[in-house]
Amino acid sequence: MIRSEKHIQQESGTMTGNRNIVDEITGHRRMRRNRKADWTRRLVQENRLTVDDLIWPAFVVPGTNVVDPVAAMPGVNRLSVDKLVEAAKEAADLGIPAIATFPNIDMSLRDETGSHCLAANNLINEATRAIKQAVPNIGVITDVALDPFTNHGHDGVLRGDVIVNDETVELVAKAAVIQADAGSDIIAPSEMMDGRIGVIRRALDEAGHQNVGIMAYATKFASAFYGPYRDAIGTGGLLKGDKKTYYIDPANGTEALRDAALDVEEGADTLMVKPGLPYLDICWRIKEAFGLPVFAYQVSGEYSQIKAAALNGWIDGERVMLETLLAFKRAGCDGILSYFAMDVARHLAKKGS
Ligand code: PBG
Repeated sequence: MIRSEKHIQQESGTMTGNRNIVDEITGHRRMRRNRKADWTRRLVQENRLTVDDLIWPAFVVPGTNVVDPVAAMPGVNRLSVDKLVEAAKEAADLGIPAIATFPNIDMSLRDETGSHCLAANNLINEATRAIKQAVPNIGVITDVALDPFTNHGHDGVLRGDVIVNDETVELVAKAAVIQADAGSDIIAPSEMMDGRIGVIRRALDEAGHQNVGIMAYATKFASAFYGPYRDAIGTGGLLKGDKKTYYIDPANGTEALRDAALDVEEGADTLMVKPGLPYLDICWRIKEAFGLPVFAYQVSGEYSQIKAAALNGWIDGERVMLETLLAFKRAGCDGILSYFAMDVARHLAKKGS
């Protein structure tokens, strides 16, 4: 006979006769029934992380055969275009749908207005061409903010102490067309200027790039989590002041929704929330409000804190990584930009085989 829980309860004295205080309180509704075995847990699992959910953000540097570790992001390297192409091949073989590229360009090419963003053969466009040629089946997403190209680390044109909105929008729209000409599949405007999505959409369409999408950094917060990224692309030491006149105050959720609504009206195809984990409420609200595909960007500082704790032996890094990514799915995200993308894809491939 199977020893039922009732026998155990009778022995331990938590049950007298047929009376059980917990059953009286719960009315016989017990949540643990569905959790009792691996097979029940698998049957009722609501969300699943798959390789299709992943976008891999990658750092590009000039040169060849360069694999340059980012100190504050153990496991993440800045790659020259040839190495990036190799990695993109691996990403595609693992089934990762898209790669998002971020350049660390030579300091001599950076100026007040970020003019090098318009060079057809700049590092970002060179990387796009090389990836598209060698790995045509992986999507390439390119950022159009000016911060990699300015000598002050801001995302826009700096005049005096003002980041000027409209001049920046004009510039990023031109840069977006040049990126699309190079083969970029999705433009990701990350500078949070007003009106940028509409202006970029119009510029892309006029240039015949109707099928190039826009992933709006719809809600990008003035966050302290971007520190390691700024070191990775060499803007950390340059930045004068902060980005509070264009990024959203981390205190504001309703304002973030209004900002996303404008991006939707102006023609965004997908919406991104950045940073990720501290802003799951925003992911959820945006998904509910607009029904558009929503992506979270698990940013550099989020990656670094998990890695740091894992390297100290304080947490199980792999389990925490998987739990954070699953949390994005539960919060309504359709996908995640994550520096863990390659690790996760390898893990999922191993599990599946
Ligand atoms: C700026 C940009 C940032 C990130 C990507 N593009 C933020 C910033 O430097 O202010 C952050 C990504 C990360 O932290 O992983 N256009």
